[in-house]
Amino acid sequence: MILKTVENMQTVDTVLDLIGNTPLLKVKHLDTGKCELFLKLECQNPGGSIKDRIALSMIAAAEKEGKIKKGGTLVEATAGNTGLGLALVAAQKGYKLILVIPDKMSQEKISHLRALGAQIINTRSDVEKGHPEYYQDMAERIAKETPNAYFINQFANPANPAAHEESTAPEIWEQMEHRVDAVVCGVGSGGTLTGFGRFFSRVSPGTEMVLADPAGSVLADYVKTGKLGKAGSWYVEGIGEDFIPSVADMALVKKAYTITDAESFTAVRELLKKEGVLAGSSTGTLLAAALKYCRESKTAKRVVTVVGDSGNKYLSKMFNDYWMADQGFIKRTEFGDLRDLVGRPCSAGSVVSVKPGDALVTAFLRMRMYEYSQLPVMEDGRVVGLLDESDILLAVHKDVSNYRKPVKEHMTHNLVTVQPSTSLEEITTILNKDLVGLLNCDGKFYGLITRVDLLNHLRRSLA
Ligand SMILES: Cc1ncc(COP(=O)(O)O)c(C=O)c1O
Repeated sequence: MILKTVENMQTVDTVLDLIGNTPLLKVKHLDTGKCELFLKLECQNPGGSIKDRIALSMIAAAEKEGKIKKGGTLVEATAGNTGLGLALVAAQKGYKLILVIPDKMSQEKISHLRALGAQIINTRSDVEKGHPEYYQDMAERIAKETPNAYFINQFANPANPAAHEESTAPEIWEQMEHRVDAVVCGVGSGGTLTGFGRFFSRVSPGTEMVLADPAGSVLADYVKTGKLGKAGSWYVEGIGEDFIPSVADMALVKKAYTITDAESFTAVRELLKKEGVLAGSSTGTLLAAALKYCRESKTAKRVVTVVGDSGNKYLSKMFNDYWMADQGFIKRTEFGDLRDLVGRPCSAGSVVSVKPGDALVTAFLRMRMYEYSQLPVMEDGRVVGLLDESDILLAVHKDVSNYRKPVKEHMTHNLVTVQPSTSLEEITTILNKDLVGLLNCDGKFYGLITRVDLLNHLRRSLA
């Protein structure tokens, strides 16, 4: 196939004109049972997510109601994507923007926000509504204390669901040629659910609204039982809540699925492999729920779900096998001995090391790249030393030109060799002496065991 002939290609005046009118892609290679499944590619908005739409509509509504004055400051509590949308629109319209962000958000999103000119205030992600450091309460307080500031508050702002009722849902309706049996969506603020639900209950009352909710969120159980349980935690970003936001009209939901992080990540990785769509973590939750819904259906239905944001912000997370294994989402072969602690075994060719002749600066940059505090120094498949941050610091603090010196002049030879059968107590004693365990297996180097490896191992056994 070659590229389609260019039709109706136009220039646009501002990047804001590129918000909305996103494509709808039919799923071809995943098992959708009797159903057809379509993906609304909201990742194609210029800010990279579905939230560009509400940023535009909430700012436009505030301007219309006289709530924002020229050069004013917008304040919002956001898990990231709404911030990106707001930062994009605020910059184009000349407003300042302060964002309060819980500390579990990805660094990529935060860097993107800062690059767009937003001021970021980090807060805790482990406190609930009512706590002074809860991100929404903090944003409201900052808006009150800042002159000429307006609290956007997507969780209670009617222009949020209105954006979806007036743009996203009608687009889907047209793209689906007025035949939609079910829409699967997640709830962060509830804007998508409420906007979609209102639109479809008006034009197509038979269309079912289906909730996809991360395990740990209280929303799916609320739909199923009418009761609000206690929230847990989850890795998926942008959806799931520990309360019912006031714009979320949960009565619109007909069916709800609880999806674990592991299911979400597996689904979104599969989506990239099979359909070529690089989507964010919430898409995994929505897709996993949509596929369950489709496969359970006894009749042929036309189902739509949303690719809320792009996966390029999560390349170091769920698209990284090591991250997946470190978090316990990909199961490694279990040996029941110390080998289970080694994330990157030498035998798999994945151990990160330096050579004795490498410069200290090379070693340092490699440590930074992989976020390690020490590296084994290897020659001909054997470990000949160990280099850690303090070795480098000792070498360079009086003379930075020593960064060019070879690793072999500054590495440690004091290596503690352990065997797979070494007990956890023994390795803990070694690590507590500020040493690192060098694990040998069948006479060959298997991998290093550091404090982080032991901590990760213990954390995995929590689950
Ligand atoms: C990345 C992302 N964020 C947020 C949401 C839901 O947003 P809200 O409930 O705030 O409209 C979705 C829904 O699909 C999403 O994919």
